[in-house]
Amino acid sequence: MFTIQTLNKISEKGLGLLDPERFAVKDDAAQPEGIILRSHKMHDMTLPESLLAVARAGAGVNNIPIESCTDKGIVVFNTPGANANSVKELVISGMLLSSRKIVEGVSWARNLKGESDVEKTVEKGKKDYAGPEIMGKTLGVIGLGAIGVMVANAAADLGMNVLGFDPYISVDSAWGLSAGVRRAKSLEAAVAECDFISIHVPLLESTKGMVDSSLISRMKDGVRILNFARGPLVNDADIITALESGKVAKYITDFPNAELLNQENVLPIPHLGASTPEAEENCAVMASRQLADYLSSGNIKNS
Ligand code: MLT
Repeated sequence: MFTIQTLNKISEKGLGLLDPERFAVKDDAAQPEGIILRSHKMHDMTLPESLLAVARAGAGVNNIPIESCTDKGIVVFNTPGANANSVKELVISGMLLSSRKIVEGVSWARNLKGESDVEKTVEKGKKDYAGPEIMGKTLGVIGLGAIGVMVANAAADLGMNVLGFDPYISVDSAWGLSAGVRRAKSLEAAVAECDFISIHVPLLESTKGMVDSSLISRMKDGVRILNFARGPLVNDADIITALESGKVAKYITDFPNAELLNQENVLPIPHLGASTPEAEENCAVMASRQLADYLSSGNIKNS
């Protein structure tokens, strides 16, 4: 019998796959062989001697002490692609929300408190909350893993010009990338001509703060930046300066840090990219299978 500890609430659809004769699932366990988690930060935790594997029901693994796990021979899994569609849908919504000033228009309309008539609302909407289509605009997708590829393809389907860049994967070899996505030679070249830039790289020492004043200075005036990957990829102080000067028109982020909340041109989203029942289920299913497979047979399959 193996004990699997859950550090976050994990969809029953996934945990239900674990044979109760072989796996005891507990949210509190002294000596678990496996851990399954979502966003719980494991860095302050003493790794149990018994631990053999950790499965992150999600893409990012920056909440897991990878080096300490590796030193102790603990295998770390994530669930690449399992929540990609949910994130993609929110990224596309983020572009539309910001371009068409939907949040501003809705907030204004809610504050009417029944005092206005429809005609006045329509007049005000046309005057203050009109915004352009995204078709024909250029989107730069930085990072061509499962989520980046889905975002690039969906944007191309919506008639956007899409430029892709990944430091490791060439546009030619990015799995499933639509033929309409153009290749950028460098990060700087990728961002130079874009109306929208969406970041989809993992948070590593080498990517921390990659969107800083230097990279922003290469972008078009009035660019809109979307960050549904990890907050620290963007230097908050630099983006605030760029928003204040108008260099960046909007920062749409799934990581609403305190200093960003009061910025007029920030659209703070409370980490909802993967918050759909479908993504939660897909991630839980993949993570549960990975743990069960490894603990019972020693198989390592990160998919
Ligand atoms: C991810 O890394 O895929 C997301 O952070 C998942 C989540 O929000 O649970």
